[in-house]
Amino acid sequence: MPSPRDADPSLKEEMEQVADAINRTITRLLPETDLPEALLYDAMRHGTLAGGKRLRPFLLMASARLFNVDPNRARRVAAALEFVHCYSLIHDDLPAMDDASLRRGHPTVHVKYGEAAAILAGDALLTQAFEIIAESETHDDPRVRCELVRALAQASGPHGMVGGQMLDLIGENEEFDLGTISRLQRMKTGKLMAFAAEAGAILGKASEGHRKALCNYAYDLGLAFQVTDDILDVEADPQDTGKEKGKDAAAGKATFVSTMGHEGAKSRAEMLVQQAISHLKIFEGRAEILKKLALYVLERRA
Ligand code: IPE
Ligand code: IPE
Ligand code: MG
Ligand code: MG
Ligand code: MG
Repeated sequence: MPSPRDADPSLKEEMEQVADAINRTITRLLPETDLPEALLYDAMRHGTLAGGKRLRPFLLMASARLFNVDPNRARRVAAALEFVHCYSLIHDDLPAMDDASLRRGHPTVHVKYGEAAAILAGDALLTQAFEIIAESETHDDPRVRCELVRALAQASGPHGMVGGQMLDLIGENEEFDLGTISRLQRMKTGKLMAFAAEAGAILGKASEGHRKALCNYAYDLGLAFQVTDDILDVEADPQDTGKEKGKDAAAGKATFVSTMGHEGAKSRAEMLVQQAISHLKIFEGRAEILKKLALYVLERRA
């Protein structure tokens, strides 16, 4: 599942390399332990190391490369971002939220380790993410570390992922118009993607123009990514996605598919991907990999 089927072969290879490197970093950050609270670490390891496409780390590393950032430093921030993403998935799968039993082809964290351990594993990943970013190995300049902390908090909290998740749950029982669904999805998915792209620019002390362009690119990409996630929920093979099928319709979620239909959602994703690519003009051909990534989001089956 981590390998992007049908994707450009060079992109596929690069995604696999980044995924391997991030997995090594995460393994180092979360070693096995025989402490009495080992259950917490086991749940954190399962929630982070059992699969995943590592798309956000890939985006962060590609953005950092544009500004010649030391890959070791960028990888720490990429791992921290993946911690936040994995925490969001562990909590998203809980019975009180989407009540999912399969994630990345494995039992969800609460199914394997119990609800309390899943809640705590999510809490621990979220807090450890900020610890990693704040440590001096992430960057010599404390202002850069502080800016990363601020940007990740902004993308994850009530103005970002958590706020979007609240709207997503409210949308199960309320009629939302397209504008509200779009805002919900930009918050729950777009904001963390935008952080991925922006973090490379922050680490590289890039110009405001470059930083903004990357942010806009990833914000549109994030929305397109969530639209394709909603399409895959309807049509994809659980063997490919590693998730149960048809959960959104069963829960009465407000999605682009439920509002615009399959074809409407597909053309909306295409439009968003073109819009994302248009923000890359400022890089004059140096961001080819980000263009390929955007096209992959349209074709993905997992
Ligand atoms: C799933 O994200 C949640 C969404 C925001 C749609 P991914 O599809 O990136 O999940 P993993 O990390 O590859 O499992
Ligand atoms: C979740 O969206 C996005 C998060 C912020 C976790 P979904 O609920 O659609 O994600 P999946 O389909 O369970 O991966
Ligand atoms: Mg959800
Ligand atoms: Mg879900
Ligand atoms: Mg989904």
